[in-house]
Amino acid sequence: MSGLPVPHLVTDRRVETADTVTLRLEPVGAALAEFTPGQFAMVHSFGRGEIPLSVSSVQSTGGLAHTVRAVGAVSAGLCAARVGDVLGVHGPYGTGWELERARGRDVLVVAGGIGLAPLRPLVLEALADPGGYGRISVLVGARTPGDLIARDDLARWRTAYTAVTVDRPDAHWDGDVGVVTRLLDRAPFAPERTWAFVCGPEPMIRATARDLARLGVPPHRVRVSLERNMRCATGHCGHCQLGPLLICRDGPVVGWDRAEPLLSVREL
Ligand SMILES: Cc1cc2nc3c(=O)[nH]c(=O)nc-3n(C[C@H](O)[C@H](O)[C@H](O)COP(=O)(O)OP(=O)(O)OC[C@H]3O[C@@H](n4cnc5c(N)ncnc54)[C@H](O)[C@@H]3O)c2cc1C
Ligand code: FES
Repeated sequence: MSGLPVPHLVTDRRVETADTVTLRLEPVGAALAEFTPGQFAMVHSFGRGEIPLSVSSVQSTGGLAHTVRAVGAVSAGLCAARVGDVLGVHGPYGTGWELERARGRDVLVVAGGIGLAPLRPLVLEALADPGGYGRISVLVGARTPGDLIARDDLARWRTAYTAVTVDRPDAHWDGDVGVVTRLLDRAPFAPERTWAFVCGPEPMIRATARDLARLGVPPHRVRVSLERNMRCATGHCGHCQLGPLLICRDGPVVGWDRAEPLLSVREL
């Protein structure tokens, strides 16, 4: 892990939605330590500042991809980056999904909106090892069809059960409508032999994790990724505190058994 931003070249920029892009980054010099799916980097837009972004793709060459939604000054600056620009990156930070704990079990991925980005490398890792896991299901919810990211991947992940729903359809949408938890009934997983990986807005995480617990997936086998505002990313400033946890150090991925009692605590 490195505390100083390491220059990375933007080698590809893909527009995902009206406010979201995926940037592929290659280190200009020595690569950072390898990231595992679920971990995050602090990504620096020179002159603006830096923000935490999960890795949406991990390359063994040291390259990374981040999918970023423009919500404020720094994220808008990163979204506006062009191929050939240089950004600063440091990390890896935080806990990963630890997919290997699900070996031999069914894998259930539930994503809300841009929450699919940090789950994408986990799905790729599971699909790359067909004998390693039981059934793989990917359930995705978005506000509107226009808010769906990683559309090519969703079409490609044929060896997994993949289902997509939107809150508000448009005239061209002929798929499911409604919240992502409604897809749980159809997904082919056996609760008693399932590990679930969940990322999205906090109310979506809460609803999904509670439904899974009701269905019989033990809370420690429901892994959720939590977001809190971050400054140092190294466990020193306390900015990301959630009860006894510092999310930059003890998270962002934690078991629902640890997260549930803490999520009534208001974000600082
Ligand atoms: C571990 C982690 C991983 C993340 N991964 C991604 C990712 O892969 N892609 C991505 O687009 N974003 C991700 N985020 C969120 C991203 O860091 C925030 O959108 C960013 O910090 C906003 O900064 P800004 O300066 O652009 O906007 P600001 O001006 O700081 O904020 C704009 C708006 O976003 C809200 N906001 C700011 N930070 C957060 C946050 N952490 N959580 C919820 N709301 C926030 C503010 O309250 C405000 O309403 C992640 C956050 C964390 C903690
Ligand atoms: S961001 Fe500083 S302690 Fe987590």
